[in-house]
Amino acid sequence: MHSDKKTVLLGVTGGIAAYKSCEIVRGLQKAGVRVKVVMTENATKFVTPLTFRALTHEEVAVGMFDDAPSDPIHHISLAEEADLFLIAPATVNVIAKIANGICDDLLTTTACACTAPLVVCPAANVHMYESPANQRNMGLLALHGAKIIEADAGYLACGDIGKGRLADVDEIVRQTLLELGLTGDMRSTSVLITAGPTIEPIDPVRYITNFSSGKTGYALAKAAHERGADVTIVSGPVAVEAPEGVHVIPVRTAREMRDAVAEAFPACDIGIFAAAVADLRPKGEADHKLKKGIDDAALQTIELAQNPDILAEMGAHKQEGQVVVGFAAETNDVIANARKKLLAKHADMIIANHVGRGLAFGTEGNEIWMVTPDGEEHVPYMLKPELAHVILDKTIELMG
Ligand code: CTP
Repeated sequence: MHSDKKTVLLGVTGGIAAYKSCEIVRGLQKAGVRVKVVMTENATKFVTPLTFRALTHEEVAVGMFDDAPSDPIHHISLAEEADLFLIAPATVNVIAKIANGICDDLLTTTACACTAPLVVCPAANVHMYESPANQRNMGLLALHGAKIIEADAGYLACGDIGKGRLADVDEIVRQTLLELGLTGDMRSTSVLITAGPTIEPIDPVRYITNFSSGKTGYALAKAAHERGADVTIVSGPVAVEAPEGVHVIPVRTAREMRDAVAEAFPACDIGIFAAAVADLRPKGEADHKLKKGIDDAALQTIELAQNPDILAEMGAHKQEGQVVVGFAAETNDVIANARKKLLAKHADMIIANHVGRGLAFGTEGNEIWMVTPDGEEHVPYMLKPELAHVILDKTIELMG
């Protein structure tokens, strides 16, 4: 009867955040998912089973030995029906029980019997959340293969401030759909991103580089991965952490970056060139540390050679269907200069920004113009993670 729809078994446990589970049901249903609810006795003190029955049009399972369900071995049939078991909110108590295989009610017994992916969304008082026991139990669940959607920080129902608030409902729905393979407008899209600076050695201890932090490239990688893309970053040396699930190819110089990109580019659908590639490199790296008084001539006059322009090379070789996005950091005539780069580098879009006003390099946010052959769109200042999604929205539009 339900064979064409994925089934999420939603476990609701006894926390004040249980009322948010109703919104989770709605969010999943909107995405075409069938939701069945299993509750702990404590959860029924916060929201009644009737509420979930009305929302899901399904029986709501609570007691291990309730009469209502048609199946006498209810925990097994529930477990088998589920394509995914989502527990939201998950109390510290239920996390502890599931992590340790304790089965003393229908929800925990079903969790133990369920072989479908498990997604756990904890919610608790900050001290309970941060307690060593809970941290260990969440770690155990993760070790067993569960996905933990960590609680948010903020004002908690108990009056404390800190981590413990159920993660954002939309985020829970989004990640659940992603786990089910149902979402992500970039699913089955392969994205190659260059990020960070390159460093160009003068000798074994000195090099030329720039102020790029890699934040924009890494934010784009994270955003594309969240939307279901298969993401590779070819990255110069950066201090930012690689997003989980993203393949990182570390490089140092522009030439190393070009080689790594040239190998990966033919297989990608989207190439985003966010790296601040050094346009020039010292001609020939000295094989020894240049010494004052001995190598003065070489130290005082560093001869430079042109580096490959990676974006221009890839743009010139792009295949039908590939979309190429570049960046332009400009101090003046932002749009006109970006448009020149769009043409010269055969890009489909240039993300232009105005540098030199405390914006761009190393900052948390930016203001940009998205310049395409059809025109330009101004995007007001926003944080780089949000900006990344705006850039990806436009990139997807360009894919047609
Ligand atoms: N880029 C690249 N390889 C280079 C130089 C730049 O791939 N050797 C890419 C950057 O990743 C960025 C775009 O080209 O996407 C624009 O780089 P930018 O340094 O702003 O432009 P340049 O071409 O160097 O031009 P100019 O120095 O005149 O601004």
